[in-house]
Amino acid sequence: MKVIKTVLFGLGTVNIGFLKILMSSHRQLIQEYSLSFKIIAVADSSGFAVCDHGFDFEALISLKMAKAKISSLKDFQAHITTENCINRIEGDLLIESSPGNLKDGNPGLSVSMLALQKGWSVVFANKAPLIFLFDRLHQLCSEYGGKVAYSSTVCGGLPVINVLKRDLKLASLIRLRGIFNATTNYILQELDKGGTMEDAIKEAQRLGAAEADPTHDIHGHDTANKLFIIMKSFTSYAGSISDIEVTGIQHVKREQLIEAKLRSKKIKLVASAEPNESGWKLCVKPTEVDADSFLATCEGWEMGIEINTDFYESIAMKNYEADPMGTSAAVLRDAIDLCLQK
Ligand SMILES: NC(=O)c1ccc[n+]([C@@H]2O[C@H](COP(=O)([O-])OP(=O)(O)OC[C@H]3O[C@@H](n4cnc5c(N)ncnc54)[C@H](OP(=O)(O)O)[C@@H]3O)[C@@H](O)[C@H]2O)c1
Repeated sequence: MKVIKTVLFGLGTVNIGFLKILMSSHRQLIQEYSLSFKIIAVADSSGFAVCDHGFDFEALISLKMAKAKISSLKDFQAHITTENCINRIEGDLLIESSPGNLKDGNPGLSVSMLALQKGWSVVFANKAPLIFLFDRLHQLCSEYGGKVAYSSTVCGGLPVINVLKRDLKLASLIRLRGIFNATTNYILQELDKGGTMEDAIKEAQRLGAAEADPTHDIHGHDTANKLFIIMKSFTSYAGSISDIEVTGIQHVKREQLIEAKLRSKKIKLVASAEPNESGWKLCVKPTEVDADSFLATCEGWEMGIEINTDFYESIAMKNYEADPMGTSAAVLRDAIDLCLQK
């Protein structure tokens, strides 16, 4: 059996969910994959704790359920920088689930680069490092022998990246359209039912789906980030995130939704990729779709994608995900895949 020495960078919703699934699926993981994950280090906003013989999963979950910090653990490494900590540890895998910082990608970007330079593999739940240095992170894999996986960064548990990269082998993308942000999809649904944007945002925050500052979702940037990751993964897209034309749902009014409905249309926040003379035109904007189309059937907490390729014609898939457990499960599936590849 392979024991994977794992570092959890961030111990919030996603990585706590990961630990919960490890606890409930421990035996199955050994039986089906001959794998076991030993958590040798954990980090939160207070710093790092390191335990060579492995942390007790339940103790870590209880710590965070009690809203305590890692600094209260006896294995806490006081006054040690993240860089020193990673340099000292002998690990196999980093799970990068820290908050997405779209100013410079840190701390997730620097810690994942350090890990890759040590030849570890990295699973990302955090999109930010991929937005900043997608190509460089992959280059580090070639240079040092690690691997990266990030299927949970696009639509949580929906295996968009896996299907594109693993299953649509040798195919070329013709076009794609998708709904990649469940919070905005839910808000549009609530507006359509007669609610207000403010109430829908509050409910999304209460459910833990929307951030305290939901601007990133509402203004379409979260959707654009996912479109960027998809394009970098499946095509030779060489543009940057700023090349994507982005309009959010902040100015969508209920009257527009009603008027569209009278014409058998629905308004959705759609991400699209269409070929043009210079390569690809990438766009995120509120878009009218036919009421009986696939994208129109993605309601509320659902996300979906329709992909047209040369060999496989049209493929569409969607998920319903109001709970972040799907994201945690996607992190685990990535971790398993990477460990089986090595
Ligand atoms: N939740 C979802 O459904 C979902 C879905 C897809 C992707 N993601 C992405 O996954 C990542 C994690 O999401 P989450 O929901 O787990 O977030 P979260 O609940 O806010 O947890 C973030 C964790 O990161 C820790 N942290 C903050 N600053 C840090 C630092 N400087 N160094 C190390 N750790 C630090 C926090 O510490 P404290 O515990 O001390 O606050 C917390 O434990 C985010 O980038 C998010 O965008 C989330």
